[in-house]
Amino acid sequence: MADTPDAEHPSALRLLATRLKRKMPGNGNGGRPHRLRYAHLIGWGKYLPEKVLTNAEIAQMVETSDEWIVARTGIRERRIAAEDESTATMALSASRGALETADLNPADLDLIIVASASPEHIFPATACLVQDALGATSAGAFDLSAACSGWIYGISLAAQAIATGSIDHALVIGAETLSRMINWEDRATCILFGDGAGAVVLGPSDRPGGVLSSVLGADGSGGDTLSVPAGGSRMPASPETVKNHLHTIHMDGRKVFRFATRVMRQAATEALEKAGLTMDDVALLVPHQANSRIIQSAARALKMPAERVVVNLDRYGNTSSASIPIALCEALEEGRVQPGDRLLAVGFGAGLTWGAAVIEWMAKPPLERPWRSRLRAVLYALARVRSRLRRWWRHLETWLFRPPAPGA
Ligand code: COA
Repeated sequence: MADTPDAEHPSALRLLATRLKRKMPGNGNGGRPHRLRYAHLIGWGKYLPEKVLTNAEIAQMVETSDEWIVARTGIRERRIAAEDESTATMALSASRGALETADLNPADLDLIIVASASPEHIFPATACLVQDALGATSAGAFDLSAACSGWIYGISLAAQAIATGSIDHALVIGAETLSRMINWEDRATCILFGDGAGAVVLGPSDRPGGVLSSVLGADGSGGDTLSVPAGGSRMPASPETVKNHLHTIHMDGRKVFRFATRVMRQAATEALEKAGLTMDDVALLVPHQANSRIIQSAARALKMPAERVVVNLDRYGNTSSASIPIALCEALEEGRVQPGDRLLAVGFGAGLTWGAAVIEWMAKPPLERPWRSRLRAVLYALARVRSRLRRWWRHLETWLFRPPAPGA
């Protein structure tokens, strides 16, 4: 990807480096056709805030009970971001973990995608903030808005960019601070959501495996069943929108429930067919963690035994785009995934959107390389310095080089 920030005033050395880089395989193809490659998941990381909010605590805020919430959703507690935490800070922590397990330096990244329904701002993209904080100086970065299906959309796009040779390494993050977009007086929604982030690094390989297939879907006719109505161009922020809680999540739970049980099975089946596989070939189902009844219904329809389904929503609630990568990370940490295993990730969300991906896991457990970790810690510290210097230089440049007066 282009070295965006420095492209304004490229030094001769930088131009030479860019030209050389473009000639390397996988870094822009100079018009040459590329042989298709495989996009493997080579790194993974997650971040969950420390603060736990239990059902009992929510029952002190709205009229509900632990029994009702557990019976209807399977959720027992969720994590809530601290005041100094946000989508970008959690995405950054998960990303550092993913670069660590991939044993990759930030400058090796070509692309950063942050899937989020609760981004840091409308713009700039949270992905750009992560790019800057990591010091991923060669990466393009953008946010992806597909709600809870966002991470699957992200790995699907990244895998295709890697397979065609247009990039080598991509960081795909799902990160959410939904606690800031909840109406804490609405018992139908405030019980469901939690905060957190999960990230993966994808890289190229000639060995078959990695993202074998993906299916993406959308049905905008259902957009109003799950939405944050205000804050965009249709309904800009005003005292009324704030007073009427229109910047918070609005949901028709029953409609979403019916939609979810239908598309989970449909998307999973299509992704398997595309990969030329059946459910018997799948070692582990990693579903979006929205509601245990939705997960059980999908598992039943797919004839997947409960022990081969990853479920962690009892501890984290629905973390939207972060839920699948967090569940994947936990499954890896618990030793539930071995090289050669095929995983089926499937999700659904606002939009309405849905997606599924079949992944053949090829990564081995990460090796301890303390000096490489220390080097990365130094690189992160340098990234902070670089960011400050660039800001400072931008101020100075604006002051020194005023644009010519009109007509001059
Ligand atoms: N505690 C106690 N009662 C509650 C409640 C709560 N937290 N939330 C709703 N209720 C009440 C309702 O007011 C309703 O009362 P009424 O019959 O007197 O009107 C009753 O419980 C049944 O409500 P209903 O909405 O039909 O419950 P449900 O069985 O559909 O469960 C959800 C509600 C939200 C748990 C369920 O619909 C769901 O999980 N939907 C999917 C949501 C989702 O996954 N969203 C994210 C998608 S990414």
